[in-house]
This record gives sequence, structure tokens and C-alpha cells, in this order.
Amino acid sequence: MLNQYQIFQGKVLQVALMLAIVSVAHSAPALSGASRLYAPCVPCHQPNAWGSPDGGIPNLAGQRKRYLEKQLSVFRSGARIDTAMQIVTAHSSLNDKNTRIALAGYLSELDANPRPVNGSGVHLSVGQELFAHICAACHGVDGRGELNNPAPRIAGQHYPYLRRQIEEGASLHKDLAPPEMTSALRGMSSQEKDAVADYISRLGNLN
Ligand code: HEC
Ligand code: HEC
Repeated sequence: MLNQYQIFQGKVLQVALMLAIVSVAHSAPALSGASRLYAPCVPCHQPNAWGSPDGGIPNLAGQRKRYLEKQLSVFRSGARIDTAMQIVTAHSSLNDKNTRIALAGYLSELDANPRPVNGSGVHLSVGQELFAHICAACHGVDGRGELNNPAPRIAGQHYPYLRRQIEEGASLHKDLAPPEMTSALRGMSSQEKDAVADYISRLGNLN
């Protein structure tokens, strides 16, 4: 039989354990500072930042730090429009530029998605030619972007996301894109846009 004192001791122990669990959860020792910043992004961009399984939400892993940081800023300012991302980046946790830089740095260090969603595969040689002649100058011959160049890595990005961005770039919706790029995209047929997006989505397999 437990006496009153032992019952009291048991309760103290229980409370102490609960407090310990709560404080562990708060300090989250398993997550570094930047990966904790990434936690609210997981439902959409997935735990490894490889984007949604249907390829509509982009891979962020291995993207250029400078580009990621800029996108977080332009979603916040409204210069780039997307309802989900404007709500996410308006959150006070991203008010500080250094926080956005830390998050961009964390994502840029992750391994890119090795199995992005690709297109139909029927016009890859057309895509290769367009890429080499028009896109490689800024995005790099391997599509991974270059240091000190604002053009992002596009190699291995999901085909559905790329195709949509190419369409928006072409219709000048994305007015952040350089005019050389938008005029090239506007001159392309829809079949050529499919082909170049498909080719680029497969460049990631060179990882
Ligand atoms: C509710 C879903 C959702 C959440 C949560 C979310 N995102 Fe996004 N994100 C999107 C969508 C959708 C796009 C594509 C927008 C477009 O089509 O222009 C996107 C695009 C981006 C881009 C642009 C990528 C590129 O290649 O241009 C970045 C960077 C980004 N998200 C970072 C984040 C970060 C960091 C977080 C967490 C702080 C986050 N996202 C949370 C849905 C989400
Ligand atoms: C003159 C340089 C230049 C050329 C040429 C160019 N791009 Fe770009 N591209 C950029 C820059 C800079 C950005 C980033 C714009 C921004 O900050 O939003 C970009 C962004 C993109 C994006 C959006 C990436 C993302 O993650 O949202 C896609 C897709 C893209 N380019 C595809 C192409 C394709 C396809 C071609 C060739 C037909 C091409 N680009 C040619 C400079 C260029």
C-alpha cells in the first residue's frame, strides 16, 4: 500500500517529467535552427524539400541560395504573386532578412530531388536544342545556374512547375524575368515549351 507521502512523491515526479517533456519539445534539440524554420513549409514542399509528388509545387533542395532568398522577399513584397506563398512569407517569423538568408542557406545545401516528375519524353531533341541555344547562356550548360548569376538552377525541377513558369514568363506575368528570356519564351510554340520543360526536368538526373 502506498502512503500519502509516496503518492505525493509520485505526483511530483509526474509533473517534473511533464515539464521536462514540454521543455524538450520547445527546444527541439533534434532540429537545428534553420530546419525548424523550414517546418511550416513541409506540408507543401515535403520534408526533404523535393516538392509535391504531382510536381506542381517546386523542389527547393539544392536551389541557389541567392535566388531562394530573393524569391522569399518578392513573395513578401507582392512583386511575385502566389496566394499560398504570399501568406507564408507574410508571417512575422520571416520579417528578419537574416532569417530568410538562413532558411535559403539551409535549403541550398540539401540534395536536389533525384526523381522529378518529367514530361512525355517525345520531343527531347527539340528541347535539348532550344535549351543549348537560348537558355544555357544564363542558366548554365548543365542548367544548374552559376555563381554570381541571378538565374536559378532549373535542372531537375518538376516538369509541371517548369511548364507553368515558362508559360507565365512568356505572358510577362512574371515581370522579374529578364526581357531576353521573356521574348525568347514568347516566340516559342506550345509544343516547344513542352519540349524544353521536359528536357530541363531530366537534366537533374545528371546529379
Ligand atoms: C500552402 C502550400 C505552401 C507552403 C506552406 C509553402 N509553400 Fe512555397 N510554394 C508553394 C507553391 C504553390 C509555390 C509555386 C508558386 C508559383 O507557382 O509561382 C511555391 C514556391 C516557392 C518558392 C519559389 C521557388 C522557385 O523555384 O521559384 C520558394 C523559394 C518557396 N516556395 C519557399 C517556401 C518556404 C521557405 C516555405 C516555408 C517558410 C514555403 N515555401 C511554404 C506552396 C507553399
Ligand atoms: C538573359 C538570361 C536568361 C535567359 C536567356 C533565360 N533565362 Fe530563365 N531566368 C533568368 C533569370 C534571371 C531568372 C530568375 C527571375 C526571377 O528572379 O524571378 C530566370 C527564371 C527562369 C525560370 C523560373 C525558375 C523557377 O524556379 O521558378 C524558368 C522556368 C526559366 N527561367 C526557364 C528558362 C528557359 C526555358 C530559357 C530558355 C528558353 C531561359 N529561362 C532563358 C535568366 C534567363
